[in-house]
Amino acid sequence: MQFDRPATTNPIDRLKVVGQPIRRIDGQLKTTGRAMYAYEWHDTNTPYAYGYPVGAAIAKGRIKSIDISAAEKAPGVLAVVTAPEVGERKKGKFNTAKLFGGDQVQHYHQAIAVVVAETFEQARAAATLISVDYAEEKGSFDLRQAMDTAVKPASGDPDSGAGDFDTAFKAAPVTFEESYSTPDQSHAMMEPHASIAVWEGDELTLWTSSQMIDWWRSDLATTLDVDKEKIHLMSPFIGGGFGGKLFLRADAVLAAFAAKAAKRPVKVALPRPFMMNNTTHRPATIQRVRIGAQRDGKITAIAHESWSGDQPGGQPEAAVMQTRLLYAGENRMTAMRLATLDLPEGNAMRAPGEAPGLMALEIAMDEMAEKIGIDPVEFRIINDTQVDPEKTERPFSYRNLIGCLKTGADHFNWSARGRPGSRREGNWLIGMGVAAAFRNNIHFPSGARVRLNAEGVVTVETDMTDIGTGSYTIIAQTAAEMMGLTIDKVAVQLGDSRFPVSAGSGGQFGANCSTAGVYAACVKLREAVSQKLGFNSADVIFENGEVRSGNRAVPLAEAAGSKGLVGEDTIQWGNLTETHQQSTFGAHFVEVGVDVATGESRIRRMLAVCAAGRILNPVTARSQVLGAMTMGAGGALSEELAVDTRRGFFVNHDLAGYEVPVHADIPHQEVIFMDETDPMSSPMKAKGVGELGLCGVSAAIANAIYNATGIRVRHYPITLDKLIGGLPDVA
Ligand code: MOS
Repeated sequence: MQFDRPATTNPIDRLKVVGQPIRRIDGQLKTTGRAMYAYEWHDTNTPYAYGYPVGAAIAKGRIKSIDISAAEKAPGVLAVVTAPEVGERKKGKFNTAKLFGGDQVQHYHQAIAVVVAETFEQARAAATLISVDYAEEKGSFDLRQAMDTAVKPASGDPDSGAGDFDTAFKAAPVTFEESYSTPDQSHAMMEPHASIAVWEGDELTLWTSSQMIDWWRSDLATTLDVDKEKIHLMSPFIGGGFGGKLFLRADAVLAAFAAKAAKRPVKVALPRPFMMNNTTHRPATIQRVRIGAQRDGKITAIAHESWSGDQPGGQPEAAVMQTRLLYAGENRMTAMRLATLDLPEGNAMRAPGEAPGLMALEIAMDEMAEKIGIDPVEFRIINDTQVDPEKTERPFSYRNLIGCLKTGADHFNWSARGRPGSRREGNWLIGMGVAAAFRNNIHFPSGARVRLNAEGVVTVETDMTDIGTGSYTIIAQTAAEMMGLTIDKVAVQLGDSRFPVSAGSGGQFGANCSTAGVYAACVKLREAVSQKLGFNSADVIFENGEVRSGNRAVPLAEAAGSKGLVGEDTIQWGNLTETHQQSTFGAHFVEVGVDVATGESRIRRMLAVCAAGRILNPVTARSQVLGAMTMGAGGALSEELAVDTRRGFFVNHDLAGYEVPVHADIPHQEVIFMDETDPMSSPMKAKGVGELGLCGVSAAIANAIYNATGIRVRHYPITLDKLIGGLPDVA
């Protein structure tokens, strides 16, 4: 199905199942332990062997030699595979640093060997017996030092602008300029990267934890130099990804090599202390924001520049993207510069670009509002735009940022906010902060197959993944709505490379794109049913388990017949994202308390108001936003991969040292969805919320801390050492 005109009324608009607060259909499988995750695959008779990875102990250089003799003789060991022995391999399209192979070391904990043994403990013990002789080289590990050598990246649209920023900024009656920084962050998802590999002849079956089945399959084929058709990949359940499982990772490659060497199925999970340096992370940024405005608050000039680093051949963290679209202003410029760093590969983490970008921009907006003397909610409303400010002939498809800000301000009792440092309860300084949320609506083609059987049950098959987001449920809702069934008459099978290629889970596009693909397949199935019954497919109604035309009604089970019926299609996207800017919007409101004695910040209340098209399921969507708000709390207050700038690695590489929020850090959270549909987005008229919920949260917290204390912290995370010197006396 080609989607190139705005959606009109369709069966989804009935909203009997779609849009309803249906609890996740895979919930029971998960809570009873019957949902099989990558490391738990019990679906073969051959006993597994266990692979344990060995990571490079230097950040940059060459392996001169590896001595595996002691490891090979250790109890239970079946095989040892080393990177020099495997040799240089072609790199997958989506990987910047290589995953395994050759003697070059590009970053700390890059995989250099895998030990296979009968038990996990034997493999782990033997791995410690491997000794490596390195030729270490000097690397570049410090973004601030490397800033001077940063260059304009070759791809990724680094520069943009309109009008004449420099002249307008000089002429503006009120000007503001500040720099901000965000640290490297780790996805730190609950389920580690894990794979089980089984070879039968030259065919590989890999059970893994992947957000993007088809990307992984292609890149695994390239890396192993195997025909893609010979690889069967499965990832039906995933314990979180956040972008860390978008691209093929070392566990899959190690498992494949290890299984080949041991001639046995092999399981490899990355040990937790391995994950921070072996896999990808969100790169640190240094950002500069300049804003010029009139005294009435209208922005006349806005500039946002960002510096980040990555491995050679990598991409910048696109922290300026939202500034191209969020606020009006005739004169503008954005720029991204990229330094070469020899740290582990930087790559996408939940709302890549916007999440760190808004951490800077939305503090800057708070600072500028104060400088002009306007309420920060009002300042954002004054500078709303209904067109792409860089290309003013392009309207937004639908944009209700103002509605989010106003609704949130009312609901949160924003008018009770006082002057900075003016509200105190005992030793607690109390403050409120606001920030806008913004994230684009992205489209990828998405395919699905739907089968109707003689029991009247519809089974959906697509390689879409569910990373904990609720894909199973919204896909079932879509098929149920389209076929006029209740949700218990729909089965959903995901995450298998034998199924049609979907958009996958990423960039908050999964919900809208994958359900649109299911919509397209159901249209085909409806046609097949109509054709079989001799109905005119234009005037049939699918309802209550029947298909009706005029006064004739046939149960779907009967229409299916003993052979059943199948519909399959892929949704393809036209140019509605070129003619219209499609984005999602929101507003975050936060209240914090800061202890004057300790400098400890505690979040007291959080509210997110989201405008993201049709909400397909308010329960799963709300969970997405709550999780994202929690992640934003971590980003504001605790999360930071600490770089050892001499040796070149992330020091706090476990969940003891890398601090994410726990229940006690998160008190009251509320989510409000604006009632809207966006017919430009898809036949579902939906967008996504999984990343929107994170965008802006950390800045709202920073702004609340400023309002509480009068101390402006521009370098995340806002730990107590950055506050304590400026706090008033203990009462
Ligand atoms: Mo998201 S960072 O595209 O999983």
